[in-house]
Amino acid sequence: MWVYEMKQSALFTTAQLGPYTLKNRIVLPPLTRSRSSQPGNIPNDLMATYYRQRTGAGFMVTEGTQIEPRGQGYAWTPGIHSAEQVEGWRKVTDAVHAERGVIFAQLWHVGRVSHTSLQPGGEAPVAPSAIRADSVKVFIETGPGTGALAEPSTPRALTTAEVKELIQLYAQAARNALEAGFDGVELHCANGYLVNQFISAHTNRRDDEYGGSLHNRLRFLREITQAVADVVGKERMGVRFAPLFATTDEDRVYLGLVEEDPHQTYIEAVKILEDEGIAYLSLAEADWENAPELPEAFREDVRKTFSGKILYAGKYTAERGNRVIQAGWGDLIAFGRPFIANPDLPDRIANNWPLNPVDLTSMYGGTDKGYTDYPTYRP
Ligand SMILES: Cc1cc2nc3c(=O)[nH]c(=O)nc-3n(C[C@H](O)[C@H](O)[C@H](O)COP(=O)(O)O)c2cc1C
Repeated sequence: MWVYEMKQSALFTTAQLGPYTLKNRIVLPPLTRSRSSQPGNIPNDLMATYYRQRTGAGFMVTEGTQIEPRGQGYAWTPGIHSAEQVEGWRKVTDAVHAERGVIFAQLWHVGRVSHTSLQPGGEAPVAPSAIRADSVKVFIETGPGTGALAEPSTPRALTTAEVKELIQLYAQAARNALEAGFDGVELHCANGYLVNQFISAHTNRRDDEYGGSLHNRLRFLREITQAVADVVGKERMGVRFAPLFATTDEDRVYLGLVEEDPHQTYIEAVKILEDEGIAYLSLAEADWENAPELPEAFREDVRKTFSGKILYAGKYTAERGNRVIQAGWGDLIAFGRPFIANPDLPDRIANNWPLNPVDLTSMYGGTDKGYTDYPTYRP
């Protein structure tokens, strides 16, 4: 595409997201980078610099941030439950707002995808049912600044009363996000973590009102969505799902769980978001090599079901993103790995400048190297 055409393309038009007018439709998606200060998992100046560098995006979502100590599954990920963490996030939101960016916090609870060494008191992680996650790894600290991948520990099942307490923890985290200066929040309901563990029959064998029928398995999603909307306002929140339409047995187990009927499951889930009237739905597409694609019939059904903004991520190029917007399937397009390596990604896309390759070895944890030292393009 010619530079002139790209600058005039759908990606570079404004969009309205709740009360916010976004300057373009390019999104920085949630990207865990594991660089919070220790001890305490506290956001810091380095993180503020990283986010400020990426304010060319029309819309930004933070890396997953755990809503409570039990919600952590990887060493060094930031939390949003302590006063120090809220203060740390304030540095990030101030830096982003100084550049007139719009940033939401991604509220995260890993559920069973954790390890006793990451849990308060070394206890078992919590989950809808006591079923261990396989085909997925957690990341534990083995010494100061060093860590290793490990198998998740066997979780224990939450009691019904504890599930209800968790809904209040989501609401509290949303209050903390507002206190930290965020413009809104996104609920992380994707990738096999806690909310996804409630939704999938494979990981939810409960016999209370949170298990059994699809309606019941979606109850946790419904209740946290309502509780958080009550705090931040429905126009300042989004929800992220990762529906997987597996075509091979190898793909069927995704981040440790199986989705039996993704079309029906996620259309029902989207109806909940539509009923609540939330601002956006984020769909994380499978992003590995030869990953199964989202069927067009699903994209069309999602569009018919949901009247808010729809955000897509997963191996997008600018051309593919423009096609999805033009087809009417989506409104906002996120670029993950390209944004890690190119802080000035929107400028590079607009001007057809070359992209820096991403360094896979510095993705999780470490220093400014591979984090804030990727160069901007100088023509
Ligand atoms: C290093 C890394 C960390 C990620 N962390 C998160 C996360 O915290 N929360 C989340 O919902 N998705 C996370 N994702 C998924 C991305 O948001 C995005 O969906 C994915 O990278 C696909 O987009 P891409 O192909 O443009 O990279 C992560 C991806 C990467 C590469």
